[in-house]
Amino acid sequence: MNVKNLQIDNNGRLRHLLCISGLNHQLLTDILDTAESFAGVTEQTVKKVPLLRGKTIVNMFFEASTRTRTTFELAAKRLSADVLNINITQSSTSKGETLLDTLRNLEAMHVDMFIVRHADSGAAHFMAANVAPHISIINAGDGRHSHPTQALLDMFTIRRIKGPDFGRLRVAIVGDIQHSRVARSQIHALNLLNTGEVRIVAPKTLIPAYAETLGAHVYHDLCTGIQDVDVIIMLRLQRERMQGALLPSEHEYYELYGLTEEKLAYASDDVTVMHPGPINRGVEMDSEVADGPRSVILEQVTHGIAVRMAVMSMAMRQRQEVPE
Ligand code: CP
Repeated sequence: MNVKNLQIDNNGRLRHLLCISGLNHQLLTDILDTAESFAGVTEQTVKKVPLLRGKTIVNMFFEASTRTRTTFELAAKRLSADVLNINITQSSTSKGETLLDTLRNLEAMHVDMFIVRHADSGAAHFMAANVAPHISIINAGDGRHSHPTQALLDMFTIRRIKGPDFGRLRVAIVGDIQHSRVARSQIHALNLLNTGEVRIVAPKTLIPAYAETLGAHVYHDLCTGIQDVDVIIMLRLQRERMQGALLPSEHEYYELYGLTEEKLAYASDDVTVMHPGPINRGVEMDSEVADGPRSVILEQVTHGIAVRMAVMSMAMRQRQEVPE
């Protein structure tokens, strides 16, 4: 089934969240607006709202995660849902159980939503196409394909700092575009929000062949690529997804593409520096930049809670009206 049909119901509401390209401008903006209301909740002394009381949410992470898994869990708990964290290394996946069988067995426990991270591109889409109609699937990162809630929290962060008019912004995404599900999702989100200019900056070996078709201008020189930009999003080298020698050495990569205070001077005076994490200090960026006044890296993590609360509550709102 077409991603848009799986992701959005006939009334234009969110069913599953699989990728940004399956959203439209209205729904993306609704998610950011809803997240804005939840950001207030997370800043209160009592951080809970009863929206998902009685619902059960399952965190299924087949790949490592620090930020995404914990902020999904916190977000679900702040919505008063019950949360199950499946420890994949101790689950029956290690005995050869298929993804579909794992899904069917957890479905039999009457759960309401799966949050899934998987090394295979398309895993979340596969689950959405096979899951019972009252259950929602939220993609927490699949292979090189998509990491939609990361892109949403990044857009939320940019909107909070720079305001809602993305049309006046130049945004550069720097690093390993080739292997990055985050970059792909960010480019789709920035284009849906009509960003003035989206640039990608990387060595030729780390830019996919179809880069221009994504709707971004390609640069291979860091200083030219970040010239006068308002936002720089740095990316990690995804060594775990690289096949063969795509780079001479991390030291040489840092010399050419590592963000330092000196190189930051090429960007706009009020440039904002972002990174989805985890950071490799001294590889893609200098600690002085990562911890400096332009960096909003930890704010991104905080915003992840409100954005994930928004996504889960919007998907469940639709589900509450689906007859079982
Ligand atoms: N940004 C991100 O996805 O981080 P984790 O891998 O720690 O979840």
